[in-house]
Order: sequence, then C-alpha cells, then structure tokens
Amino acid sequence: LDLTLKNKVADMGLAEWGNKDMQLSELEMPGLMASRAKYGPEKPLAGLKVMGSLHMTIQTAMLIETLKELGADLRWASCNIFSTQDHAAAAIAANESSAVFAWKGETLEEYWWCTEMALTWPDGSGPDLIVDDGGDATMLIHEGVKAEKDPSLLDREPSNAEEKCFLDRLKAAYKVDPQKWTKMAAKIKGVSEETTTGVHRLYQLEAAGELLFPAINVNDSVTKSKFDNLYGCQESLADGIKRATDIMLAGKVVVVFGYGDVGKGCARSMRGYGARVMVTEIDPICALQAAMEGFEVVTMEDAVGKGDIFVTCTGNYHVITGADMEKMKDEAIVCNIGHFDNEIDMAYLESDEGCTCLNIKPQVDKWTLNSGRSIIVLAEGRLVNLGCATGHPSFVMSNSFTNQTLAQIELATGNYDVKVYTLSKKMDEEVARLHLERLSVKLTTLTKEQADYISVPVEGPYKAEHYRY
Ligand code: NAI
Repeated sequence: LDLTLKNKVADMGLAEWGNKDMQLSELEMPGLMASRAKYGPEKPLAGLKVMGSLHMTIQTAMLIETLKELGADLRWASCNIFSTQDHAAAAIAANESSAVFAWKGETLEEYWWCTEMALTWPDGSGPDLIVDDGGDATMLIHEGVKAEKDPSLLDREPSNAEEKCFLDRLKAAYKVDPQKWTKMAAKIKGVSEETTTGVHRLYQLEAAGELLFPAINVNDSVTKSKFDNLYGCQESLADGIKRATDIMLAGKVVVVFGYGDVGKGCARSMRGYGARVMVTEIDPICALQAAMEGFEVVTMEDAVGKGDIFVTCTGNYHVITGADMEKMKDEAIVCNIGHFDNEIDMAYLESDEGCTCLNIKPQVDKWTLNSGRSIIVLAEGRLVNLGCATGHPSFVMSNSFTNQTLAQIELATGNYDVKVYTLSKKMDEEVARLHLERLSVKLTTLTKEQADYISVPVEGPYKAEHYRY
C-alpha cells in the first residue's frame, strides 16, 4: 500500500458536476440535513476515524459530508466494483471530505486494495468506527485476525477467483505487518451495517462467538428495510433494466426470485409497468403474501421457459443455475438485485467451454449457451440497480443514512458490548418524522386520553417491539 496516496478516483475533472448533483440532493435528503444542523455544532465524532465500505454514490457522498460535519476523519471505498459514481467520488476527493479509493469498474484485486487503503490511515493506524454495506470491511478484518492467529490459513486453495484476490490481499498485508488486523480490531468501537446480507454475516459471527467488536444492524430499522429495500428497489430495478436494455416491460413475463422486502418492491414495480409477474419463494408466509397480492407463485421449473426477465432478490446462493440458464428463452434478460453476484451461477457461464460472451456495452453481456440460445446478463450478475443505474433515489437513502448517522453517534458515544444491536424505536420514529414535511404529511397528535387508552406515551414510541409494520 502506498499510504502517501491521498485518493484514487477515475477523473477529478468530474468534481464540479458531483458537487452540483449533491446540491440537488439536499432538499431530497431532509434527514441528513437535519442531522447536520442538530449534531454539527456538538461534533460527536470529533477525533474519531471513520472508514466506509459503501457504494460511492451521490447519496453516499451526502452521508460522508454529514459525518464530516459531525467531526469525523474519514476514508472511503465502494462495496461493489461497479457501483461507484465517478462524479461523486471526485467531488468527495476535491472537497477533502474524505480520502476516497473508488471508481466504476474496479477489478477484484483493485477492489480489495481500495478496501484496505480505506482501512489504513497514513500513520498505519486503523479506524475507530466502520460504516459497512454487505460486510466486506468487517470480513477482511475478521479473516485477517484469524489468519494472524493461524498463518497456514493463508495457504489454503482458493475456491474461485474472488477468494484468490481476497487471500492475496491478506497475504500482502501479513508480509508488511503480521499483527495488522489484530491491532486494528482491538481499537474498533463498532460497525454499523447497512444491508440484509451484511447483517446476516454479523449474526453468524455473533452466534459463533467470533464477533470482535460491537455492531449496529441498521438494515432492520423499520425506516431502512421497509423503505430502502422496498420502495428503493421499486424504482431502481426498473431504472437498471431500462438503462441497460431499453426493453419494453409491459406484457413481458418477469420472474422475481424471493418475496422479502426487496422482492416485494421489485414485483410491484414490474407489475406497475404492465409486466406479468411470477414470484418464487421458499417461505410459506412470503409465498402467501405474494399470492394474496395477486402474483402467480411458481417454481423455477414452471417459470424457466416462460420468463422474459429474471430478477434474483434472495440474498441466497445459486438461485439461478447453469442448467436453468440453458432452458431459458432466447435473449431472456437475467439480473440480480441481491447483494452478491453468486445468486446467479456466473461461474457456469465463465468456466464452461460451451458458453461464449459478446459484450454489448459496459455491464451488458450477451452469453450464447450450449442450448444455442442466448441470454442477456446485466452487471455480470452484480446488483443491477447500482451496476446499470445509479442505485436508489436520494429521498429513500436519506432514511437509510439518517439511521447510519445515528448508529455512528451511538457507537461513538455509547458503551456497547460485543454484540449486534438495533437502534431504538424512538430513533426509528424520529428518522421517519424528519421525512414527513418534504412530503407535506400532516401527523395527528394523540390526546392524553387516547394515549392512555392504547398505553403509549403521547410523544411515542407508538408501537411495541413485536409490532411488524
Ligand atoms: P429478505 O430476507 O427480506 O428477503 C429474501 C427472501 O428470499 C426471503 O423471503 C426468503 O425466504 C427468500 N428466499 C431465500 N432463498 C430463496 C430461494 N432459493 N428461492 C426463492 N426465494 C428464496 O431480504 P431483503 O431485505 O429483501 O434483501 C435481499 C437481498 O437484497 C440481500 O442480499 C440484501 O442485502 C440485498 N439488498 C439489495 C439492495 C439493492 O439496492 N440492490 C437494497 C437492499 C437489500
């Protein structure tokens, strides 16, 4: 690592555009702007080093500048090789709001280099706090600590190209300092995690007794997963598919895999365009929800020969296999909006000798299969909304990132054990409250008698912990 390097972005010439775009987001991000006004003067993050591994978009740039205003000393990388908006990265670098190592179209080697650069301050020290999305920064530290305890782990045979790049990065770090990650982990006050997949990894670490620092699960704030995952994907899925292919959605058969928060948004979006939507599920509750919303709930077997567009939203592994792709209609579109690309068996396409690739444009590939038919794969199987479009709109990200801001303040100022926490319902309601005025929402105030009757305080929280929204 060259720690004298202040930033690495695609093109600093894009900074002015990035700043104009950020300015346009201000009105749409009332939660973040209110957080700046409320906590900016107190500077609760003063003296703290904050590392971010989260899609380097305009919305994230707004989060970064909020954390900066709260006093943080920041370094940032993207959590996906395709999700950086180069003008956002350039603006952050030019404004010196954070050191930033991110550009659209990183290789996997570069990706892990960027992550380690963002985790390593010029004096060699690590962060006090992490903002993670998908858990890659957290994983690098945890795997690094494991390897420092047992260096033979570094010599294991990688199962794929991705793991090879990851191991190479760990080996390089070990050569420079065989205690790097152990020292880093010992200093970390906590991580706030953005997404379902990252949260899943955190609970796995906690259950195994391997979690090394406190964590806040931001995803499961109601004002995150029931908004970003749902309404965000409802808009950004279509944006990704349209920018990539210009396909007419009305009348097409769209198969949505998984009917969780993301799947619900995706299915509703496609129906809104007039597509005929099929859903697959493994969970009877979600399957019943889908059916009662009027979607046809089917299996892959039923759907594979009928679908024109396939969208994976499960956070699971190999939901679309090579054998499935071989059965699809000619020029079916295949994409994923879940966090990792392994929802689709991309390795089948890339390793099988019978499949050939024709690149149409960046992040759009036409693969010809052994069936003699072709499929169009978007963003190489990575999150289509961030790879082929610009992710969710600012307004919904303001909800997510206000939760992130509150989580960072909590970790900085609170005394947390090494466990996974969620934010309080009071904070969740506060995040929502900050977004009402922009939509001209008028809230009804409880009378004291009404509040007593339903046993809640007049000023909230209004729901019991077990309420599911
Ligand atoms: P969720 O847990 O609410 O939903 C996933 C659903 O998939 C569940 O209902 C589950 O039963 C179902 N499922 C699991 N395996 C399946 C299989 N083999 N076939 C059919 N259904 C299956 O999770 P959520 O919040 O909807 O997130 C899904 C993924 O999307 C995660 O990886 C998450 O990190 C990611 N995400 C992506 C965003 C984006 O902007 N692209 C935004 C938010 C989340």
